[in-house]
Amino acid sequence: MNTCVVGLQWGDEGKGKVVDILAEHSDIVVRYSGGANAGHTVIVGDDRFALHLLPSGSIRPNTICVIANAVVIDPEVLIKGIETLAQKDISLNGRLFISENAHVVLDYHKKEDQLREESLGKNKLGTTIRGIGPCYADKVGRSHTVRMGDLRDLETLEAKLQIIVEYKNKIFAAVYNAKPISADEIFEKCKFYADKLLPFITDTTEFLHKSIAEGKSVLFEGAQGALLDIDHGTFPFVTSSNSSSLGMPAGCGVPTKLVDKFIGVAKAYTTRVGAGPFPTEQDNEIGQYIRDKGNEYGTTTGRPRRCGWFDAVAVSYAITIGAIDSVALMHLDTFTGLKELKICRAYKINEEEKTFFPANTARLSQASPVYETVPAWDEEITEVDNFNDLPLNAQNYICRIEELVKKPITIIGVGPKRNQTIFR
Ligand code: GDP
Ligand code: IMO
Ligand code: MG
Repeated sequence: MNTCVVGLQWGDEGKGKVVDILAEHSDIVVRYSGGANAGHTVIVGDDRFALHLLPSGSIRPNTICVIANAVVIDPEVLIKGIETLAQKDISLNGRLFISENAHVVLDYHKKEDQLREESLGKNKLGTTIRGIGPCYADKVGRSHTVRMGDLRDLETLEAKLQIIVEYKNKIFAAVYNAKPISADEIFEKCKFYADKLLPFITDTTEFLHKSIAEGKSVLFEGAQGALLDIDHGTFPFVTSSNSSSLGMPAGCGVPTKLVDKFIGVAKAYTTRVGAGPFPTEQDNEIGQYIRDKGNEYGTTTGRPRRCGWFDAVAVSYAITIGAIDSVALMHLDTFTGLKELKICRAYKINEEEKTFFPANTARLSQASPVYETVPAWDEEITEVDNFNDLPLNAQNYICRIEELVKKPITIIGVGPKRNQTIFR
């Protein structure tokens, strides 16, 4: 059984928790897109792990972990992740496989990300400044790139870095009037990365196909969410990869035909970090209530997340383009204490009701949500482990969302811990 888990909103839906739970029954967990812009939280007992590049299966000591070709890897973050786990006696030796074709995020990418955001002023995208956009741009541009496999041949890499850094420094000076960076310093860091990471670097496509042929079960872990997809999201307020499940096959070389199930993860409401349209945003006391009770602050950047009502138009779109089979709905517990809840069932655009999400920022910014209002509940539900024991209004909320998005909700989150999860 091979399963793919993806975000159905603008990221931070709770993918890390879902993947950690499902990893118990998987042999291999694969990250296939994005980079250290991701922050996936896994809570095990009193330990809280924030994973940026390592798959969320890495906490389980026997799970094989793959970082596939379309992930952009910041080796510094990855090495730190490996060391953080080692401090908890969780070793990745012999069970971490990193694609030789994955592109490397280096200091000049992070510098470019920051300089560009600063130069955009009030028009900035609100990126995570992890160098993601510049690294993917170099990948598509092809001429000035470093891939993980390049760490094997340091002599060639040193010469390559001289050319790349000279080129980058010309841009930094001419466009941003910024100080140059040193190719030698970056090369010294690369020697360190090679020393730490070479044992893990391999052909992950070959490894995955061999494993699947042997009958191993694979769990594919999406990063970000469908609405941040470079082609299908709310461009330009998106990330630079295909973060919907459409990015999975190209992201790791395994066709979707070999995936048995696509699980989409959404929150019972909506959040977004960074700029861009957000039709159901509640920039008011409701949004603040959700932020406080749901602890809605970024895992990677610590930024307060923008919060709003559940948007069935947006989630249905993510389900449609992603061929999603079932939904995990997280953070239901966050609603406890509110009087009533709103669900966006359609958009009004130019006096017309629409239920197909317009993934075009100009059209989306004209959309006003059409809400239906349902009653909430007062009971804390963080200890509930059975759907039928939820307050009736909570059960009705779940059932109404199922009707609107036309898919079963098979996993319900009622708290951040592993056991605070209801399966149906
Ligand atoms: P990801 O990027 O999709 O993996 O999500 P993040 O880890 O960035 O953000 C999700 C946050 O919600 C984390 O702090 C999780 O510990 C927490 N979380 C996940 N599921 C639930 C839930 O059902 N209820 C509550 N209260 N917190 C949850
Ligand atoms: P996970 O995997 C939430 C957002 C950034 C910004 C936009 C572009 O934890 O769900 P980037 O640094 O990628 O160029 O930023 O995308 N973003 C995320 N938002 N969760 C994420 O990942 C995100 N990764 C990127 O906030 O709006
Ligand atoms: Mg996150």
